[in-house]
Amino acid sequence: MNVYDGWRIAAMLEHRGMHRTETVSDADIIILNTCAVRAKATDKVFSALGRIRRAKKPSALFGIVGCVARESGADAFRRIPDLNFVLGPQSYHKLPEILDNPDAKLLNIDLGGLEKFDELPQMEKSPTVAYIPIQEGCNHCCTYCIVPYTRGREISRKFQDCVSDTIHAANTGAIEICFLGQNVNGYKYTDEKGKTYRLSDLIREAAKIESVKRIRFTSSYPTEMTDDLIDMFAVEPKLLPFLNMPIQSGSQDVLTRMNRPYSLELYTEIIRKLRVARPDIQISSDFIVGFPGETDEDFEQTMNIAQQIRYINSYSFKYSPRPHTGAALMTDQIPENIKAARLAALDNCLNEIQREFNINCIDKTMECLLEGDDKTGRHLIYRTPYMQQCVVEKPDTNTPAPVLANICITAANKASLRGKFAKTSE
Ligand code: 5AD
Ligand code: SF4
Repeated sequence: MNVYDGWRIAAMLEHRGMHRTETVSDADIIILNTCAVRAKATDKVFSALGRIRRAKKPSALFGIVGCVARESGADAFRRIPDLNFVLGPQSYHKLPEILDNPDAKLLNIDLGGLEKFDELPQMEKSPTVAYIPIQEGCNHCCTYCIVPYTRGREISRKFQDCVSDTIHAANTGAIEICFLGQNVNGYKYTDEKGKTYRLSDLIREAAKIESVKRIRFTSSYPTEMTDDLIDMFAVEPKLLPFLNMPIQSGSQDVLTRMNRPYSLELYTEIIRKLRVARPDIQISSDFIVGFPGETDEDFEQTMNIAQQIRYINSYSFKYSPRPHTGAALMTDQIPENIKAARLAALDNCLNEIQREFNINCIDKTMECLLEGDDKTGRHLIYRTPYMQQCVVEKPDTNTPAPVLANICITAANKASLRGKFAKTSE
């Protein structure tokens, strides 16, 4: 979501005749697009602001947008007095106001809902992978999570707006469509005639577009994984066989205290149905270790579920107490050293499963999407249908590399794959 917001901010400024620079000291405006999900991310923003302040031109405007802006509000101006703007994730379209009035202190952390989508100029050219936000905010209120505070309550965009953004992206270069939302599979829009549209309807519309070859969505909440959506994996080949569906913990007690009221049986049943619908599907998850009150037995259950589901790619984090959340007030916080030991153990286990999956891919041919050159310029980076990075030697020809290519996997480690062109798919 932040990558998408970053593109829109850049496009908005380019629309006003500005262009990008890689160097802070050259810039006339410096914008930090921020994440507040863990305390470390917030701390990094303020230390980066300190560095930028010293490196920038005296006349350059600088400020923060996104969730840290919403979290800190006016307090950000107290911490960094010469900051020029603080704009929340739903009000960054107000940024041009600071260009028109550079002496002001611009503060707007309102939850404007979908207003930004109406006000931002269309992007002229889409990247190969187009992010299409279809809903904002989250109603789940997990007790550890600051998102419902920073991004507000859940609100779905109009079905027709999502479809026209998808068509526009396809017409301007997108090959892959990634539908986005904090709670993407909770997407629900009812039009004036009373007809309700869900994520499965959006997938069906995107799949009708000839030039769209791959479709995915992130992030999913387990209980919103309805049968119509599961069925899409069976009937729609353009939908990639990969799903991020965070479980967070393998302990029923911890899930209850996280206010994630699904049973482990239900979660595993959804995965079973997904695997029936699409036998080659693979799942990824997010995990939090060291949630208040998490016992050794609770943690053991998280290790067990990771082994049982065999997630091929996961993100795991130490629990970080956040303002505006219930869990921060729980009394039985876990000491840092225990959190660190649990994280290391879980990461080991997840890395081993990932490595095993990657090694199993050797000798298989997969249709992959070109991402670009690697740092050396000698290799091409492709993405497999499972979002693995695959490095391919650049051919000695002047013809551009195929955007979609059948690639045979030749080697693998935990982090990435190596491959060679089989035959191009088109
Ligand atoms: N501490 C640690 N991890 C968190 N996440 C959300 N809030 C916290 C927190 N307070 C993780 C969850 C979520 C991912 C985006 O970030 O695992 O899925
Ligand atoms: Fe946060 Fe995700 Fe829970 Fe929503 S479902 S409160 S975004 S962790």
